[in-house]
Amino acid sequence: TADKMPPLEGDILVHAEESKEGRPIALADLSDQLVRAWPMGKDENGADVIRKGDPNNILALYRFPAGEIVAPTNLEATVDGQVVAYSDVCTHAGCSVSDSDINAGEMRCPCHSGQFAPKRGAVVIGGPPPKPLAQLPIRQDGERLVVAGFFLTPPYPYHNNEAEWDNL
Ligand code: FES
Repeated sequence: TADKMPPLEGDILVHAEESKEGRPIALADLSDQLVRAWPMGKDENGADVIRKGDPNNILALYRFPAGEIVAPTNLEATVDGQVVAYSDVCTHAGCSVSDSDINAGEMRCPCHSGQFAPKRGAVVIGGPPPKPLAQLPIRQDGERLVVAGFFLTPPYPYHNNEAEWDNL
């Protein structure tokens, strides 16, 4: 069903935080602190549907000052090199990753202390995760942020099954 579909091109990014769930995310809502988002698409009747039926659809958004986001982030898949979206699902065992409370500017997984660098393509900088968090291409459409394509690398849970990924 539509609520379990992975993020699709054209989906609108909406807040996942309970107090504002479903509200479209504006640039002004974003900063160097992680904001969790769901992709919101349409169901078969054309009604809005938040794709939260699959917890693996949760996304992590950041907005950094110009010039701070660097390779291996795919800058073409960001908004103006300043807003970047990743899968928020840890590539180790699928926990939801947060901002590090130890090292500013890093992400940390609460389950086994996996660490990621959100300004550098969410590469692994510590702990057991085998791969970076998958980057999701996004673009700006008026006031809204919109999915511009599928994940650039296999996100959890596809990353252990390249064949399944190839068939997506
Ligand atoms: Fe994230 Fe293990 S699930 S480090």
